Amino acid sequence: MKNVVRVDPQNPARAAIERAAELLRAGRLVAFPTETVYGLGAHALDPQAVRRIFDAKQRPDWDPLIVHVRDVGMARKLMKRQLPQFDLLAERFWPGALTLVVAKSGRVPDEVTARRPTVALRMPRHPVAAALLTIADLPVAAPSANRFGRPSPTRAEHVVEDLRDRVDLILDAGPTTLGVESTVLDLTQSPPAILRPGGVSREELQTVLGEMRIAPGVSDELAGRGLAGPGMTLKHYAPRAPVELFETNEQLEKRVLELQGQGKRVGMVVNSMDAAVLARTLFAQLRELDAQAVDVILCILPAAEGIGWAVRDRLFRAAGLPVGK
Ligand code: TXA
Ligand code: MG
Repeated sequence: MKNVVRVDPQNPARAAIERAAELLRAGRLVAFPTETVYGLGAHALDPQAVRRIFDAKQRPDWDPLIVHVRDVGMARKLMKRQLPQFDLLAERFWPGALTLVVAKSGRVPDEVTARRPTVALRMPRHPVAAALLTIADLPVAAPSANRFGRPSPTRAEHVVEDLRDRVDLILDAGPTTLGVESTVLDLTQSPPAILRPGGVSREELQTVLGEMRIAPGVSDELAGRGLAGPGMTLKHYAPRAPVELFETNEQLEKRVLELQGQGKRVGMVVNSMDAAVLARTLFAQLRELDAQAVDVILCILPAAEGIGWAVRDRLFRAAGLPVGK
């Protein structure tokens, strides 16, 4: 496709980044890699550009976007007030897979935040994202670059699959390294609340934050309670086939025999029981199994520690289960 440009993930060619930056300045859409998943970016201070994101993704307008920044200075300009906790967390985890929700300054358009008084900020670590933010020299609003309700894209091919010519340029730097989205931490609540588990683990956050809440509806923490808010919709990461989850191999094998006895085409998520590896490959595997038109997808859950907690959360959502089963 002519709007896909391959770039070196470590050392992207300047010409490609400049072209992408130029498009962003002109209010166009650029898909770019971050260390978590690919994002669908637009100039965050240009309401019309931001509206294009919602159109392209067919994302409901009540779901706010993450604003990506080049550095802490750029983030501060988008915040209503200074916040000691923000400084501590940014110091420790930025650039990285942590998104911080703070009170927004008047510069952030309502289109970005779905009319909320808060804004979600993240400084990504991926060299291509960092170069783009530096050269464009503007904050970039970007959700994951998938069609709403599809698994997040961890390869440029996934972006092409879902968005094709709805995006003006795709920077293809190969597969992303983490594979699950950033952790979203709400600093406007006291104590701060994890709205979405992700690339930075709860254990890591604990080393900086004394106290922490986990928003209702997140992962298997608080089964069956009400949903917390935007982005908490179950079925959010859903493949087309139903997903069934198991804690042990024995349970899974029993179910495979049962399903095969019924003549079902069984798809299995390959899980080496290394949660980081599963995180990196999960979304691509779900897409692949969908493409093979299996009748059902089975997976063993990783333990709920480190990045495993985020993977469990995505699997529960893919299964459309009241999280916590
Ligand atoms: O890793 C990531 O976070 C990727 C890359 C591209 O940065 N982005 C991503 O964006 O996953 P998205 O839009 O797919 O998910 C953003 C999440 C949503 O659950 C959204 O509801 C939440 O962040 N969010 C954004 N702004 C918020 C706000 N002001 N208050 C509460 N939640 C917010
Ligand atoms: Mg998303």
